[in-house]
Amino acid sequence: MFEAREIAASDKAGLYAELAQMLEGLLEGEDDMVANAANTSALLFQYLPALNWAGFYFLRDGRELVLGPFQGKPACVRIAVGQGVCGTAVARRASVIVPDVEDFPGHIACDAGSRSELVVPLLRGDEVLGVIDLDSPDLARFDVVDQAGVERLAEVFVARL
Ligand code: SME
Repeated sequence: MFEAREIAASDKAGLYAELAQMLEGLLEGEDDMVANAANTSALLFQYLPALNWAGFYFLRDGRELVLGPFQGKPACVRIAVGQGVCGTAVARRASVIVPDVEDFPGHIACDAGSRSELVVPLLRGDEVLGVIDLDSPDLARFDVVDQAGVERLAEVFVARL
């Protein structure tokens, strides 16, 4: 059974370090991608403040992202590479922070409540497997500390596959 535990860290970098440890424990001994993505989404949504959506899109045939496990409102199922924030992160093979979704041309609004967004690619060597997408109802919710923290969590996730 997963025991919801108190976070000891008082700063954001410390929170992500604890989450990375918790994720390693949560995924230990399991390599099923769907199950691990479901538990990773739940962990992110449970412990990161001010989120309205946290989840995965997986790359299919190198050209289209398809919705994976998530927490939050039902979302768009398919996103072409290069489209929206998620497809842009895949095309760039790099994380994208969007402080205000209204200022991002081509942003795909799945939840009208989202104001800012962070998308981190799942990288295995040169290969992009998909993305982790976090949405917030707050403007400018995500910074480089969030980016580095979620990139570390993405590494833990990919290492289990
Ligand atoms: N806003 C994303 C679409 C996915 S939802 O936020 C869950 C985008 O522009 O790619």
